Amino acid sequence: MTTKKQIAKIIKRTIPSLEERGVTTKDVLQKAQSVNNDEFYTRYEDVEKELKMYPKSIWKNKVVFCNCDDAVNSTDRNTSAFALYFLTKFNELGLKKLICTHYAGKVDLFNQGPKGYIFTKFGFNEMDTKKEYPKNYTGSFDDPLSLKILNEDADIVCTNPPFSRAIDYWRILIESGKRFIIISNITNPITPAFIPYFMKGKVWAGYHEVDWFLTPKREMTRAAGYWYTNVPIKNRPKYKQLKIIPLKEIPEENKQYDDHKVLLVKKCYIPSDYKKPFAVSARAILNGLLEKGYEIVKDNQYFPYVNGKKCFGRVLVKKM
Ligand SMILES: C[S@@+](CC[C@H](N)C(=O)[O-])C[C@H]1O[C@@H](n2cnc3c(N)ncnc32)[C@H](O)[C@@H]1O
Repeated sequence: MTTKKQIAKIIKRTIPSLEERGVTTKDVLQKAQSVNNDEFYTRYEDVEKELKMYPKSIWKNKVVFCNCDDAVNSTDRNTSAFALYFLTKFNELGLKKLICTHYAGKVDLFNQGPKGYIFTKFGFNEMDTKKEYPKNYTGSFDDPLSLKILNEDADIVCTNPPFSRAIDYWRILIESGKRFIIISNITNPITPAFIPYFMKGKVWAGYHEVDWFLTPKREMTRAAGYWYTNVPIKNRPKYKQLKIIPLKEIPEENKQYDDHKVLLVKKCYIPSDYKKPFAVSARAILNGLLEKGYEIVKDNQYFPYVNGKKCFGRVLVKKM
């Protein structure tokens, strides 16, 4: 098994110094100050906590593609936790290959450039983007080379993509038909661009919420993330949080009708005997309601009005 120490050695061996990259520490700090909300890095413990929930068999002899991940940064602290996880567990999971590509956008702190690394059990090599692929490879997930890897090589995609490109990212990933386990915003189940995917059963929640991320300076920062996947989940522990009971047994304070006489339920109370559509929050979907005989009936957000006052958005669901 590759240990974190061994990985750190690989990283050190392959990393050019700041001088070799033509940047100073001051340049790095200036870039770090201008980073946008996309620069939230996933903590190793969050990757581990989620991925260990899936059966090991899903990884066996598979090509994992981390398409928003710097696999080889100056220290293992700066290296993507996804890359570190798969490198550490490479043999244990029986992976065939790990491919990590890194975006050289405006926040390329260390002038790493667009890079890609391919790891197999025989070792690793840097993708020779100049030789094999178009000159202007950006490392972006929607670059032709990244799409080629996604569509032709990858079996499972695993990453935390940029929040600002989530709509495009989900479209490309879901159209590829590949398996995935990714992080995105906790509100996706009630966000118009994503609701159709939940409605059509193309995606569902993973196991955990992700509340803490790291900034480029490796300080903890809060953000509302959640894991999403299309890998089958059996016996989701969060089913326990759904309270599916007859409507009359739902406490009064957790049910009400809006100005259009649509039933709204709170705190994951779900009527077991109600035939009409009713509105739920993202939490009910995240806890697996769609696996319990309920379906989304409108592919858009539903904003209830109560006494003329607009309430927060939800989705309309119905018992099948
Ligand atoms: C939310 S961060 C997560 C980084 C890393 N995947 C992790 O989990 O720690 C998203 C990363 O995607 C990078 N990024 C931005 N635009 C991108 C693009 N078009 N293609 C690939 N990566 C991109 C950002 O620079 C940022 O480092």
